[in-house]
Order: sequence, then structure tokens, then C-alpha cells
Amino acid sequence: MRNTESRYDPRNTLNDLTGKEWLKLTKSFFLSEKCADDKAAFGHPAPFLIKDIEKMISLFTKKGMKVLDPFMGSGTTAIAAYNLGRKSIGIDLSSKYKQLAESRFIKKGMKENIDYEYILGDSLEVLKDIDPVDYIITSPPYHNILKNNSKGLRKDASEKGFRSGSRLGVEYYSEDERDLGNQQSFGEFLELFRKIMFNAYNKLNNKKYCSIVISDFTVDKKEVCVQSDIVNLMTKIGFEFVGTMVLLQDNKPLYPFGYPYAFKINHMHQNIINFRKVEK
Ligand SMILES: C[S@@+](CC[C@H](N)C(=O)[O-])C[C@H]1O[C@@H](n2cnc3c(N)ncnc32)[C@H](O)[C@@H]1O
Repeated sequence: MRNTESRYDPRNTLNDLTGKEWLKLTKSFFLSEKCADDKAAFGHPAPFLIKDIEKMISLFTKKGMKVLDPFMGSGTTAIAAYNLGRKSIGIDLSSKYKQLAESRFIKKGMKENIDYEYILGDSLEVLKDIDPVDYIITSPPYHNILKNNSKGLRKDASEKGFRSGSRLGVEYYSEDERDLGNQQSFGEFLELFRKIMFNAYNKLNNKKYCSIVISDFTVDKKEVCVQSDIVNLMTKIGFEFVGTMVLLQDNKPLYPFGYPYAFKINHMHQNIINFRKVEK
């Protein structure tokens, strides 16, 4: 009988997956998945979920490789990397989020400078001095939407059986002018993001991958295809676009924004936009 078990291919320089596992992760969508260790991350307004990032790291790296997140926030990328035996380096402007991340790392027994590095500072500058990395996964601030859309903090109504309660106010990342979330116009936001990702590109080993997690959003009340802007700026830097995965978030509340006059979309997914560095 033919052996139908999937096997690890010794020619595989990308990851440690068998053929079957690799194939599963080539799907253009997956459902976002929570786990118990995510809870502590919600002191940050927009954290990744660990399982989602583990999927991406397992696809794009091998054990022992180094993952970079230039907008590290609550530290989820470092935790996902650690869970899979990868190393990580993260940068964030906010000492509050660095502290939050470190309290999560301590609980996991993660060791600084062995398992992870978390540098407090502006990615634009810090990236110039780091060592090369094997994979980048990150999510920038979504321009100024935390300030504009009042999507920030909500009262915890979980005891009443609701997902979240009435608005308490808006939490945004910082007042720092170097913060990508504080750029005056959408054009300035894109330009600063391009400069940061150019510095990240220079630190990514050749033939390795970079994933940007971002959704479309509105700028001055108009829907913007942010995905196309990101692909444009990343390809200008030199990255090759290799496809978008849709991260489905089917548990968000629906808002009747335009009802009953006009269609206005409820964003229920993030785009994970994937790129590769291929130097001739
Ligand atoms: C969308 S959040 C990232 C959340 C993160 N993925 C997590 O799992 O918590 C964006 C982060 O970028 C940080 N940030 C904004 N501008 C920055 C800059 N110029 N350099 C470094 N970090 C910056 C913010 O403080 C914020 O924590």
C-alpha cells in the first residue's frame, strides 16, 4: 500500500512543516483563534492573538530563527515566537506597553536577551542598529482611527453576558509625534510607515518574508483601500508581494452605520499582506 502520511521534505529551507501542514497554511483565509494567554494582552487597545501569529511564524520560519516586530505593543509576537522555539526582537515607543509585555514574558519564564529582546524607542531609528532577522510580522497603528472613531475602551459587561459595554472613552497609543498614529494626514502616515519598513527591509535576510497585518478603514469618513496603499509602498521599497490572507474575526459587534440610507461596511477581518525580499 502507498504511504499517504505527509513527510518533512529535507529540501525545505523555509519552515519545519510537513507537506500536509504546509498546504493547510497556504489557504487565503483562516479564523482568528483565542487562547487563555491572550487575556493579559487586552491592556493594549489592539493586540494580536497568540494562535494567529503562531500560524504565521510556523509557516515562515524554522526553529531557532529570529522574528522582528517593529510595533511590538503587548508582546504577542515574542510570546508566539517563544512558544515555537524561535527568538524575537521587538520595538515600541510606549514604556507602558513594554511593561505590559514584560509582565506577560515573566509569567511564561521567557529570558531577556536569550528568548527575546524588547527595545523601547522609535522604530525608524532603532531598526538601523539591530542584527539581521529571518521574518517580520507586524501591525502598525491604523493612522489615527483610535482617535477618530471612538473605538477605544468599552466598559466590561462580560458579567452581564455581553461582549463589551458602553463607551468609556478612547485609548490611543501616545501623544508622541514619532508615533505613526499621530501623523496629521493619511499621506504622512503612509510615508513614515514606508521609511520604517525600508529600514526593516535592510535588516531582513534575503529570500525571507514579511507580513503586515492591517484592515481597510475610513479616512475623513471615506472608505480607503489601505491594502493597495500598503502593497504599493512595500513594492516600492523592493519587497515582492506574495499574497494576502484574510484573518476572519467573526465575533465583532455589528454597527448599523449607514442604515437605512446607505451601505457602510462593517470590517470583520484583517488582511495579512505577505511579502518576500528577493535580491537579485
Ligand atoms: C497596532 S499596535 C501593535 C500591537 C501589537 N501587534 C500587539 O500584539 O500588541 C501599534 C503599536 O505601534 C507603536 N508605535 C507607533 N509608532 C511607533 C514608532 N514610530 N516606533 C515604535 N513603535 C511605534 C504603538 O505604541 C503601538 O503599540
